[in-house]
Amino acid sequence: MKVAVLKEMVAGEKRVAAVPPTVEKMVAAGMEVFVEAGAGLASGFADAEYGTAGAKVQASPGALLESGDVLLKVQRPSAQELDGIPERVAVVAYSLQSRGDAELTERLKRRRISALSLDLLPRIARAQGMDVLSSMANIAGYKSVLIAANALGKFFPMLMTAAGTVLPAKVFVIGAGVAGLQAVATARRLGAVLSAFDIRPAVKEQVESLGARFVAVDLAEHAEDAKGYAKEVSAETARKERELLLQELKATDACITTALVPGKRAPVLVTAQMVEAMRAGSVIVDIAAEQGGNCELTDPGKEIVHQGVTIIGPLNIPSAMAFQASQLYSRNVLNFLMHLYDRQARKISLDPADEIVKGCLIAHAGEMLQPA
Ligand code: NAI
Repeated sequence: MKVAVLKEMVAGEKRVAAVPPTVEKMVAAGMEVFVEAGAGLASGFADAEYGTAGAKVQASPGALLESGDVLLKVQRPSAQELDGIPERVAVVAYSLQSRGDAELTERLKRRRISALSLDLLPRIARAQGMDVLSSMANIAGYKSVLIAANALGKFFPMLMTAAGTVLPAKVFVIGAGVAGLQAVATARRLGAVLSAFDIRPAVKEQVESLGARFVAVDLAEHAEDAKGYAKEVSAETARKERELLLQELKATDACITTALVPGKRAPVLVTAQMVEAMRAGSVIVDIAAEQGGNCELTDPGKEIVHQGVTIIGPLNIPSAMAFQASQLYSRNVLNFLMHLYDRQARKISLDPADEIVKGCLIAHAGEMLQPA
């Protein structure tokens, strides 16, 4: 079986879908790996390292694939990339969901591509090693704190100096999932005083174990679905939540917002009125910006200042840490590929009854599928 790794073409995308150590493992398993020349350069992996790992470095490796082979990507492939591979190739990428992208849908169907969208993998124990959402959220949570610390004109830690004591910064994290918990841990390491809020009361213990104060709202409903994800909350809960956030934000120096509800626009939790109640010089880093943002004033991809408060809506944060983001992503991809790979037949098998395949296979044999 041939596996092709393409250079990412989307502006600002520095990650790569396979790194030399994962190539080595694929080759050892009997796969023939073709890497596009320069594919790993932006993330710190040279062509020669891929060569040493057993890959063949080529100008257009997609064209070398045959039906049943695999194309590995980070970003969803462009029309041009899809036209550059033969029919019936399996494409594995971070997110292949084609909502509103008629051109992608048409191409996946017409070219009979098997599209495997890793962001849809079930969050089950045996798929943990493939969990790209957790890998990338961890990076986003860490980096969000550095972005906030950089933008805030204050120290994070408490300092005792000859000129007097510097009080530690107060950091408030909204949404304590994978990214939020990493943000709490990182800001704590920098010496800030932490508080965190989540609509799922189950995270209280995790927040407290990281040394942060948990800000709790009195809930009249169960805000968690059967899979452990947050649900969209009622108007009454949203009102209580806003009251609580307003009070907390008045005393916050840096707020990091990470709240998401799967399949929906990110909930708007920080209103313009709350921003106006914050002290001038405060900072909001809204890492839900890609899904619309948790702050009403977030302009995705931009940094704005509203009445003295800086609001930053960074996009594609993992790409800013491309070396390790590529390492982690490519290990997830490798684990996924190994799960599909039939060593004897030397090809991948897409068993529609397998929970992992069922969860993320969104196109196959000319049909668009409803992920499980
Ligand atoms: P996510 O990225 O979907 O959301 C981030 C956080 O925002 C979540 O903690 C969510 O509760 C919170 N949120 C949503 N609406 C909110 C609101 N209105 N107000 C405040 N907070 C709100 O979540 P993530 O990080 O992907 O984790 C979701 C769940 O999946 C967690 O329970 C996590 O522990 C679990 N998980 C399970 C894994 C597994 O392999 N079994 C792996 C990773 C996560």
